[in-house]
Amino acid sequence: MSEPTAPGPVRFGPGAHLLVTGGAGFIGSAFVREVLGRRDGTRITVLDKLTYAGNRANLAPVETDREQARRLRFVCGDIADATAVEPLAGDADAIVNFAAESHVDRSILAPDAFLVTNVIGVHVLLEACRAETARAAAGDRPAPPRFVQVSTDEVYGAVEAGFSREGDPLAPRSPYAAAKAAGELLARSYHVTYGLDVVITRGSNTYGPYQHPEKLIPLFVTNALEDRSLPLYGDGMQRRDWLYVSDHAGAVEHVLRHGVAGEVYNVRGGTELPNREVVARLLDLLGKPWTLVRRVEDRPGHDRRYAMDGRRLAELGWRNRVGFEEGLAATVAWFRQNDAWWRAVRSGDWDEYYERQYGARLATSVAAEPPGERG
Ligand code: NAD
Ligand code: TYD
Repeated sequence: MSEPTAPGPVRFGPGAHLLVTGGAGFIGSAFVREVLGRRDGTRITVLDKLTYAGNRANLAPVETDREQARRLRFVCGDIADATAVEPLAGDADAIVNFAAESHVDRSILAPDAFLVTNVIGVHVLLEACRAETARAAAGDRPAPPRFVQVSTDEVYGAVEAGFSREGDPLAPRSPYAAAKAAGELLARSYHVTYGLDVVITRGSNTYGPYQHPEKLIPLFVTNALEDRSLPLYGDGMQRRDWLYVSDHAGAVEHVLRHGVAGEVYNVRGGTELPNREVVARLLDLLGKPWTLVRRVEDRPGHDRRYAMDGRRLAELGWRNRVGFEEGLAATVAWFRQNDAWWRAVRSGDWDEYYERQYGARLATSVAAEPPGERG
């Protein structure tokens, strides 16, 4: 008779505790809202520096619900600060790292913060995880923590044709993508060298409610709502694969639960479109004219296309739930209804950023060629 297999480490449910870094950002907060909203007893500590992109309001749905709020602890701190990270790692069954500087254009304007957070920050988290793994080996805790590094399709660089697979070489082409590649390679090295339980996800372009309006879809939706110009880079024929935010958060959870240690998983949305087409569709949903769209000077080193093969994650049993049409309609509706949220986000240093990124571009812009007949 075979021995009964020992139950796997507990990561969800009563008694389980997750450390979610960057949990006040766009995708991290969706993960937190989803897990706590399930009311299965899981506790979460969010560690977030509350940079310009972090927003406590993203956690309001859980913080205003007494049962969920009891299972959430919010710590304002930096993942690159070992004194902030170490005590939190000691009590975590898993660390899910969403924290990052995440915007390509800002990485072109000022790369430094990208290296500190996306590389050194990951290193500090991994060191804390290494100490906890050693404690587990010594019998001082029941199991080592699992470390989930949330990475991006941008680490593959531009893909002219075909679909990136997890074993393909990495060829990042922006400071953001290079720093993310460094972070995930470091994570993998800690698996190989120190035996850490590491899994890595590479998500594609994500969109949905609560996304900071610096990114394409929320920027264009909020600008269009105010009848302001929409700055389309270059010919607008760059192609992206679009992934709805709840699907991205769900895929990260699926990999946390079922991923094989040391593996990387592509998370694709399954809808690849040129930017012009995305813009035309969101204008249709808003009932706003194409004449708002301005062709502006292109992003330096702009990747023409990202596209990934999603078979490995499908084989692990994961499926997308929200198609692009449905997701875009929900996103546009959310931004329409949450005027106060995005107006508050477009304050502080927003005007200064906008001027720096778009001032000269818009001053020299031309009308964007209208989209052709779409099928
Ligand atoms: P975001 O910019 O909305 O949120 C990032 C969060 O991290 C913010 O709350 C911010 O305050 C926090 N943060 C930044 N630096 C920190 C630090 N040093 N210490 C602690 N917290 C810090 O980003 P997002 O779009 O939610 O992306 C989340 C993760 O997913 C990132 O790792 C990003 O690289 C990855 N990703 C994003 C996309 C996308 O399209 N948005 C696609 C693939 C992968
Ligand atoms: P973005 O949302 O910045 O995501 P990423 O650079 O990670 O793909 O941009 C998505 C696409 O939209 C990308 O091809 C750049 C383009 N874009 C514009 O044309 N204008 C803009 O103002 C922004 C922010 C993006």
